[in-house]
Amino acid sequence: MEKNTENIEKIMSKSYNLFEIINDKKDSDSWGDRALDIARDIHEIKKENSLAIRGIKEITRSELKDEGMKLKEIVNILFEAMKREIKESKKDIRLFFSTECNFYTSKHYYLMSMFRNLIMNSIDAIPESKQGGHISIDHSMDREKHVFEISDNGEGLDEDGLNHVFSPGFSTKINYDTGEVNRGLGLSIVKKIVEEEFGGEVSVSSVYGEGTVFRIVIPKAYIEGDKL
Ligand SMILES: Nc1ncnc2c1ncn2[C@@H]1O[C@H](COP(=O)(O)OP(=O)(O)O)[C@@H](O)[C@H]1O
Ligand SMILES: [Mg+2]
Repeated sequence: MEKNTENIEKIMSKSYNLFEIINDKKDSDSWGDRALDIARDIHEIKKENSLAIRGIKEITRSELKDEGMKLKEIVNILFEAMKREIKESKKDIRLFFSTECNFYTSKHYYLMSMFRNLIMNSIDAIPESKQGGHISIDHSMDREKHVFEISDNGEGLDEDGLNHVFSPGFSTKINYDTGEVNRGLGLSIVKKIVEEEFGGEVSVSSVYGEGTVFRIVIPKAYIEGDKL
């Protein structure tokens, strides 16, 4: 899986290089071969990429059951995985999860991916210098729907950020020097999962300099149990 991730990074760089030379209208003879090369690389990693693409590469496959899982099991696995991430980041962050009830879902991979993307963003948004960083995931429900709120006391979003957070490619983390250009997809994946897999809605509110809350509302029928 690690190797696969490395390969993905390499392909992203290759594609970005191709984009640049096309943009500059340079070496047009090589465009076709370069594009084919990228296509081949993608074909290579296709088999093993599903976990990586869903962004849950650090959660081992053995911890995840195939058919489905209870919300609390999902939350426990995520909690441990995210605590490891926080430890590695060396930031002063406390993580809180609260669940109002427990239910079985066969869409556990999607839930993992959604939460992981949001929590990783919250970790990124809390500066190293901050004391008392705080991330919480709160679940509540009523007769028709489940509501998840992911909040942090990180740097928050300015107006431009608020307008574009869900757009594919919008990122304040792109580093052109290191070639780390595969950024800005996390929230567009989250939005796609919420809307297409769960028939729900995701929204964001934020106070610049104070923190951010992502709110996800999912109709019960789309998330509980086996199938719709
Ligand atoms: N919790 C958050 N607090 C502040 N800014 C955020 C938060 N989540 C996302 N963002 C902003 O939205 C951008 C897009 O997020 P995302 O789609 O996950 O891409 P990436 O994390 O690769 O930049 C981030 O670069 C960041 O500027
Ligand atoms: Mg992200």
